[in-house]
This record gives sequence, C-alpha cells and structure tokens, in this order.
Amino acid sequence: MSRPRGFNPKDRFFHKAKDENFAARSVYKLQEIDQRFKIFKQGALVLDLGCSPGSWSQYASQKIGDKGRVLGVDLKAVTVSLENATFIEADLRDLKLEDVFVSYGFIPPFDLVISDMAPNTSGIKSADQARSLELCELSVDIAERFLRPGGHFVTKFFHSNDFEALRKLVQTRFKKVEIVKPEATRSISKEIFFVGISKLGAPAGAQKVARQGTQQEDES
Ligand SMILES: C[S@@+](CC[C@H](N)C(=O)[O-])C[C@H]1O[C@@H](n2cnc3c(N)ncnc32)[C@H](O)[C@@H]1O
Repeated sequence: MSRPRGFNPKDRFFHKAKDENFAARSVYKLQEIDQRFKIFKQGALVLDLGCSPGSWSQYASQKIGDKGRVLGVDLKAVTVSLENATFIEADLRDLKLEDVFVSYGFIPPFDLVISDMAPNTSGIKSADQARSLELCELSVDIAERFLRPGGHFVTKFFHSNDFEALRKLVQTRFKKVEIVKPEATRSISKEIFFVGISKLGAPAGAQKVARQGTQQEDES
C-alpha cells in the first residue's frame, strides 16, 4: 500500500526516540502535553490505557519516581520493563479493572488516567468510526470511575463530527478541557488529544456520544 504524501515514518521524532531509548515517538506527544499542563507529580498513581509498546509508561515512570506506580493495559505486550510499572495484556472493553487492581495491589483512585488507545483500521469507514469513538468513550468512562477528584486525564481522539459532543462530555467532568494537537502528531493525522484538568467531584457514569460519523486513522 502506498504511503500518503508527506508521511515520513523515520522523522526527527523517530530518531529522537531511538536516541533517548523510548519505545515509540508517541512519547513526545505526552511530553508536550505535560510541559504545557504539568500533569505529572512525584509519587503519582498512573493508569495508562493502550500502553504498548510502552513509551508513555516510560515517560510516566520517570516523572513519578520510585514512590509512584504505573498500571499499563494493552491488547499487545509492551517492549519495556520498568521497576515501578505493571503491565497487563487484555482488551479494555472486556476487562474487569477492579479485579486487576486487587490482583496487582493497586488501590484506586488514580492521580492520572492517560489513554493513547487507537483501533487497527479495517478500511470500512463506518466500522472504524465506531471503534475509534468507542475507545475514546471507554477512556472517559474509566476516568469517571477510577480517577480521583482533582486528578487529570488525557485521551486521544480522531477528529470527526463527534468532536463537539465528546468535548461537551469531557467538559462536564473536568474543571477545564484543553484540546491539543502536539507537534509530534503527524501533519496528515486527524489525531487530537483532550486534556481534562482537575476532575470534578460527583461521578455520574459516562454517557454515550451520539454517533454522527467519525474519520480516523491509526498512527503512532
Ligand atoms: C498508538 S498505540 C499506543 C502507544 C503508546 N502510548 C506508547 O507510547 O508506546 C495504541 C495502542 O492502543 C491499543 N489498543 C487498541 N484497542 C485496545 C483495547 N480495546 N484494549 C487495550 N488496548 C487497546 C493498541 O493495541 C495499541 O498498542
């Protein structure tokens, strides 16, 4: 399959990640978000959704230090090993996270929930649209249940007609919502990140966003 024009898989972020021993160039997206909003604190408990190959967890691990802990979940195995991180291979759509917390000694609430989840594209637009939105909603729901009030949230979304509805959904749960397209996101990508700053108090259960059609692609 031919690559879109302007797509360079080995761009400067690729080389930087290699030089700095990060598992993926995606790390610089999280780094930019953190530099802008200071979402990490020493000693924090972090839930990393869609964590493979592991660069976000590597970044989190460094920022929270040895008193903090990361729980990472992905369908695929991670390629890194970190003293203060535990990784689970599972489908987050089916996983009972409460059981994982008990098995691995995590006591929620988490200080930070970060999601870089992205579906594999099937090429069938309507199916890909639905899966992308589903993962984003799932991350909102997990933050709703397991993030502490005052905690922060990052989730990936592929820009589409569902954007406004999703933004409103996140807005009802956080004091402030920022939309970020990091420099490391490829210019051809429709990827953006919602950053929820300081979760509000009362849990209400995430609502579903009315589907109005979504465009997305997979990239990291
Ligand atoms: C862009 S990659 C994440 C990169 C990662 N943040 C890093 O820095 O190394 C997206 C990941 O989402 C994962 N994913 C997609 N659907 C998932 C699901 N239902 N449950 C768990 N992980 C999922 C994929 O397996 C893939 O590894």
